[in-house]
Amino acid sequence: MVRHLDQIGAIAVDQSSKVAGVVARVRRMVHDGTLREGDPLPSTRALAVELGVARGTVVAAYEQLDGEGYLRTRHGALARVAAGVRGPAARASAETGGGTDVVRASTGPTGALAAAVVSGSLAVPLVDCRPGIPAVTAIPQRDWRAAWRAAASTPLRNAIAEPLGSPDLRAQVVAQLGLTRGFTATVDRVLVTAGTSEALSLVTEALRGLLGRAPVVAVEDPGYRTGHRAITSAGGSLVGIPVGEDGLDLDALEASGPVDAVLVSPTHQYPLGSVMPVGRRRRLLAWAATTGTVVVEDDYDSEFRHRGAPVPALAALDVEGVVLHVGGFSKTLDPRLRCAYVVLPSPDGAATGSPVTEAVLAARRARGAVVAEPVQAALVHLLRTGALRRHLGRVRRDYTHRRARIAARLGDVAGLEARALNGGLHAVVTWSGPTTGAQIARRLADAGVLVATLEEYGLAPGSTPPGIVFGYGAVTMPELDRALDALATAVTGS
Ligand SMILES: Cc1ncc(COP(=O)(O)O)c(C=O)c1O
Repeated sequence: MVRHLDQIGAIAVDQSSKVAGVVARVRRMVHDGTLREGDPLPSTRALAVELGVARGTVVAAYEQLDGEGYLRTRHGALARVAAGVRGPAARASAETGGGTDVVRASTGPTGALAAAVVSGSLAVPLVDCRPGIPAVTAIPQRDWRAAWRAAASTPLRNAIAEPLGSPDLRAQVVAQLGLTRGFTATVDRVLVTAGTSEALSLVTEALRGLLGRAPVVAVEDPGYRTGHRAITSAGGSLVGIPVGEDGLDLDALEASGPVDAVLVSPTHQYPLGSVMPVGRRRRLLAWAATTGTVVVEDDYDSEFRHRGAPVPALAALDVEGVVLHVGGFSKTLDPRLRCAYVVLPSPDGAATGSPVTEAVLAARRARGAVVAEPVQAALVHLLRTGALRRHLGRVRRDYTHRRARIAARLGDVAGLEARALNGGLHAVVTWSGPTTGAQIARRLADAGVLVATLEEYGLAPGSTPPGIVFGYGAVTMPELDRALDALATAVTGS
């Protein structure tokens, strides 16, 4: 019996390595331009005969390639190279090995296209790995359309838009936070904003009104520069605080002199990816309560955690009522919706809001509504029907898969370190040596890959090591492979 099981195991290993072999061959052919968008592949039967493998091996390989976005397979039709799969200029064909001929012989006239790629007459298409672009197109068309149909069917009414945002949306946000972020809130403490940037501008304006002077805001360095600009445009001034393995450096914060507010991303520091441990979170909250400092929590991509359970929000520990929690739909759905929310603190047992809570509510009422009602109604539908939850389940798996590919591909490249990979949808890549992020970004742009430099996120010169910030939310698997190859070459120079 044991022997029998061993044999099955050996056959399974053999089968999976043959599948991997076919998968690797097709991937390479797509990368080197031998196979182009729309090219048919041989039937599973024909290729199995040519390669001398079981048909099931080729079927499994095609399925995997379909799942990775290289192929489109349809029952009863030849598998074809998927749309959007675009190879860079061909590398030495030696790399593609004998398998190339097997497949090319059966796929018809790809030669002219391949020759055009080799001669450089086709421009290398861009792969956009700049951070901040999630997998928007992964949401099923039927869910997306249903949400907009529901928004369009909302009865017309003669009314002024609710300045705090749609009560239905705020109620859905409260329900979602209880389930996913570990804290309860009440609808009257939630307000809708035009993205995180408007939330930060609103809070700065409210503090300015309350204090009667420009508020001083401590921010992470490196940190979210777009958010920092929103604070300064609303009249705030910034104090950069370094970031370490445990997130914001609390010793440096406490030594920095008085500040009115501190902006943190404790669950996945942006961009370096560190998580602030619970002991430090408690220390930050205690310090804020003692010094009367407002803590603004930027909870931008906490839904995506690739290792271990999701980390609860900082607001979940806030008994003193010092945290303004900012979340939104830019990473979970689409940044172009321009919709986020602020959850204002309510100290345990307090009947009225703190002066800060009241000032932010007043500022929202004074500015008025900023997110179009149909957008809010569509979001309500996506939340209420569970479509957003299903979408998150799907993309979370995709992101985790891509993250594993990045770790595997870059893990053995000497002198290069990939970080921020425990959550979210971006990675930070650093290297030893004097080459700057801008130099690597330029080499990557020449290879058709767009990234951001780590240095762009620093306030003080030299506050980051040289590096790049690399978004993997919106790229296909073939594009990701191509970008990773280009990155390894750009950094190692080979
Ligand atoms: C750190 C951080 N916070 C928040 C956001 C979302 O910003 P917004 O809601 O303005 O689209 C992003 C988007 O990239 C981000 O990187």
